[in-house]
Amino acid sequence: MISCIVNNKTVETGVNPGISVLEFVREELNLTGTKEGCKEGECGACTVLVGELHENGTVKYKACASCLLPLGEIDGRHIVTVEGLDSSLLRPVQKAVFNNNASQCGFCTPGIVLSLTGFLLTSESFGFNDALDALDGNICRCTGYASIRKAAEELSIIFKDKKGSVEKENRVEQLIDWEVLPEYFRSIGGRLENMIYSPSNISMFNENKVLIAGGTDLLVQKPEGLLAEDLVFASKLDSIELKQIKEANEYLHIGGAVTVEQLRKSEIIHKYFPSLENDLLLVSSTVMRNCATVAGNIVNASPIGDITIILLALNTRLILRKDHSRREVMLDKFYKGYKLMDIGGGEIIEKIVIPLPDETSLFNFEKVSNRKYLDIASCNSAVSIKTDNKTVQEITVSVGGVAPVPLLQNEVGKFLKGKNISTENLIEAGKILTSKISPIDDIRGTAEYKKLLTRQLLYSHFVKLFPDKIKYEEVAG
Ligand SMILES: Cc1cc2nc3c(=O)[nH]c(=O)nc-3n(C[C@H](O)[C@H](O)[C@H](O)COP(=O)(O)OP(=O)(O)OC[C@H]3O[C@@H](n4cnc5c(N)ncnc54)[C@H](O)[C@@H]3O)c2cc1C
Ligand code: FES
Ligand code: FES
Repeated sequence: MISCIVNNKTVETGVNPGISVLEFVREELNLTGTKEGCKEGECGACTVLVGELHENGTVKYKACASCLLPLGEIDGRHIVTVEGLDSSLLRPVQKAVFNNNASQCGFCTPGIVLSLTGFLLTSESFGFNDALDALDGNICRCTGYASIRKAAEELSIIFKDKKGSVEKENRVEQLIDWEVLPEYFRSIGGRLENMIYSPSNISMFNENKVLIAGGTDLLVQKPEGLLAEDLVFASKLDSIELKQIKEANEYLHIGGAVTVEQLRKSEIIHKYFPSLENDLLLVSSTVMRNCATVAGNIVNASPIGDITIILLALNTRLILRKDHSRREVMLDKFYKGYKLMDIGGGEIIEKIVIPLPDETSLFNFEKVSNRKYLDIASCNSAVSIKTDNKTVQEITVSVGGVAPVPLLQNEVGKFLKGKNISTENLIEAGKILTSKISPIDDIRGTAEYKKLLTRQLLYSHFVKLFPDKIKYEEVAG
């Protein structure tokens, strides 16, 4: 039985937990404001808000693509569809859309309204860039983006101004006072607290069950197949380690069920890898990053998984757990062939462990895809370097999209170790790199193109990290 609140209504249902929330709200609850566009996480027409009760009694919301959100994931949570914003008056987000003519056929509009409401719920500054980032997963096929951008800008200006007066600590309460959210939102925390909902014991996961985390791969790959499976939801497992980011004993510990957006927003990550906040904007879109998890990316085992490529360069260890026993595997030893991994039935990636960088460490990530945002990479690469700013003391280079598995380029590392940071050495390293990879022709590019691209990504790392020593024109030219 799944218990949740949908808009202002408490719902209990025995419907299969593997169906999507999109299907549930449209077919079972007749809430047809949520639209079905692509059903693959790419258009944002199905965007809903998901609210989760936090320890301090507040409810934190995030925008999610309901077409890839399994129903079981909303057990004990609050779901807001466009109907839940209450149509008896035009709320500020709807007003901004209306004022700027940002809706023509209206198909994408509910998703846009919820993404912008998500922006008001989560942005610290109400900055225009945050508003645009919140819309990075919403496609509109007829209005044109200029008027949608204007609506986002109007909201940013209005709410920055309001925030300048006095802002309440609890954002939900504040947005109710500002009429962004209806009055009933005040009762949600208490109602979720009283909901009969208990976490699942991690020992109940075994080889006969399917673990589902964000669902952003599983619901694309085999939505019908999931209905026949015994599903276990990672977010409901009772392991704290699985869900937190912390630093301890010279290591960074990232729970397997941490979402990509949590990683992007984490203060601990900002402290050690500040560039990741922007880099991770290149991973899918806000509605996807809010659900997609770090371990899901690793087990998806795509040769161009962005999180995997980043983690590979950081000398990552995986902690795999089955019931109460744990074992460790280095991430570069985890992949055995295309989509083949060193993980047994019933094993969970509980956490990902990374050595903390020191003051001599630098990190960079590069990704090339047909579209800058919301696209899978043609090739990607990450590098971590220890340096005295003259010579390379240690270097780890990972590359994706050039082999059946995400790769470490050990030969490049061996060559550059101890060498001066110079154009000549980098060109030589580029030659070694291209001689060690054998990409194939596919829809993302020819083998020749990918070889060239991978070499350019290596150059880009050094141009970005050592701008006074390496000039792009000199290495590439
Ligand atoms: C529109 C769209 C855009 C995308 N863009 C990108 C992109 O830009 N870059 C990118 O890298 N990927 C992208 N992806 C792929 C996908 O979103 C990511 O790979 C994501 O991180 C998968 O995580 P998840 O939690 O949703 O996985 P799920 O679908 O829940 O699970 C995937 C697999 O991992 C297993 N799994 C999940 N958690 C664990 C765990 N803790 N231990 C063991 N096994 C586990 C599941 O059993 C399943 O086999 C995109 C996908 C879509 C649909
Ligand atoms: S229907 Fe397109 S993202 Fe869900
Ligand atoms: S208004 Fe028609 S798709 Fe956006």
